[in-house]
Amino acid sequence: MAGQNRLTGDHGGLMDGVYRHQRHFYDATRKYFLLGRDPLIAALDVPEGGSVLEVGCGTGRNLTLAAKRYPHAHCFGLDISRRMLETAARSVARANLDDRVRLARGDATRFECRALFGMSKVDRIFLSYTLSMIPDWQAALCTSLANLAPGGSLHIVDFADQSGFPDLFGRTLRAWLARFHVTPRVDLIDVAGALAHAHKGHLVARSLYRDYALHIIVTLPPQPPADAARMQNDIGRDPLPA
Ligand SMILES: C[S@@+](CC[C@H](N)C(=O)[O-])C[C@H]1O[C@@H](n2cnc3c(N)ncnc32)[C@H](O)[C@@H]1O
Repeated sequence: MAGQNRLTGDHGGLMDGVYRHQRHFYDATRKYFLLGRDPLIAALDVPEGGSVLEVGCGTGRNLTLAAKRYPHAHCFGLDISRRMLETAARSVARANLDDRVRLARGDATRFECRALFGMSKVDRIFLSYTLSMIPDWQAALCTSLANLAPGGSLHIVDFADQSGFPDLFGRTLRAWLARFHVTPRVDLIDVAGALAHAHKGHLVARSLYRDYALHIIVTLPPQPPADAARMQNDIGRDPLPA
């Protein structure tokens, strides 16, 4: 497992503390409320021989599924928590994917694929229920886009604002999530849309389960267009594959 020295503050220590015990029952319990992860993997559509990176890979649950679904892809995962990476390494080994999946410790807000994995850009990057745990989540989005190859895509699934549920449900969920240092990013679409615009890219987004969660894809142009930036935010109108 490769290392990364320039980690921010003690967020890694905080995450190690949060997941010290939870990582042992994480996959069994999270499947009931980290909704939308499998549709995200299905929509990655990694090109033959392409590369895919999960930022905040946790236990490796998503990465092993992605590696199986895209058997010709080069798969990478980074996480700030050493404990989660230990669990991820075991999941990868159990799935006999050591030769196809590489893991490294890194900070989503300041990583470089070249330093961690020896390749400058990747074709697909995804963040699954990770931005809601990163204080400077906007920096994590910028950094991910900076590591994406031309024509590549950034895929995000995370908590939305629960506006389709009674107030009490939303307040109870947010209070419970806060105990785990999770904060839904209610302006995620706006920030991702502005970044897509700045990169002359294209954003599609879909609300999941009555605004329980949000699935966003930002696609970069194959070559930066010569003409002025053109925003193409088709929020709610351009459905993603189920
Ligand atoms: C809720 S878990 C999600 C794990 C996995 N993506 C999934 O869908 O099951 C969030 C993960 O993000 C990691 N994380 C939090 N802040 C991070 C940061 N700044 N850089 C990299 N990983 C981070 C945590 O250690 C944890 O493994």
